[in-house]
Amino acid sequence: MYIGIIHRTPCILGKVFIIIFTIFLNMELVKNDFIDFIKKRKSIRSFIYQKIDKQTIINILECAQWAPSGNNSQPWRVCVVTHPTVKRMLSELSKYGGIIEEAYVNLVIFLDLERGYDRVKDIQAIGAFMQNILLGIYAQEDLGGVWIGEILNQKEEVNEIFKFPTDKFELMGLIVFGHIDEAREKAHAKERNRRPLDDFIDWY
Ligand SMILES: Cc1cc2nc3c(=O)[nH]c(=O)nc-3n(C[C@H](O)[C@H](O)[C@H](O)COP(=O)(O)O)c2cc1C
Repeated sequence: MYIGIIHRTPCILGKVFIIIFTIFLNMELVKNDFIDFIKKRKSIRSFIYQKIDKQTIINILECAQWAPSGNNSQPWRVCVVTHPTVKRMLSELSKYGGIIEEAYVNLVIFLDLERGYDRVKDIQAIGAFMQNILLGIYAQEDLGGVWIGEILNQKEEVNEIFKFPTDKFELMGLIVFGHIDEAREKAHAKERNRRPLDDFIDWY
């Protein structure tokens, strides 16, 4: 549509104006889409067992790779689990075992204590890392995922599965993801809600 308008505009200045305006408009659209994207991401807990290719998993982890961290310390370590036996072992350590086993991919996320330098900042960086993973999953067609924190009750046992010494790696949580079972997800869906802004913001 814009190309046609540019062609029909006789004056060169007019053409330039339309081009700049179009670029600006598209940038605004992309920005608004991105804000909408953040708000629409939601936890998914029902999956169809269907393969996810390695490149897709890498694409998701690349989102995490670019998370911010204090001093750019990047204190993360991830075990990517798709093997059914390893998923079974993880599932036995959580009351969310059904979800863990059903999801095609389990990402087991650790804080690399040797890379860390400040406990609060290190854990904050892991939070940013994990949120980027959730957004990366949501950006893929038909994929959904959920953060499983409850497994932290069995931290040492998780380390044992991967033979990770507890003085070097501390479990921060799991993110499990897979192809969404839309029918079951819809059947179990609860209304999503958030505290109103006024409830947690003070303006000065
Ligand atoms: C630190 C953390 C731990 C969580 N642990 C679990 C969990 O163990 N099991 C689960 O089903 N969901 C877990 N969740 C997902 C939350 O329940 C979910 O994010 C929250 O209810 C908001 O829903 P939404 O993600 O759909 O917006 C966890 C989320 C976070 C950030």
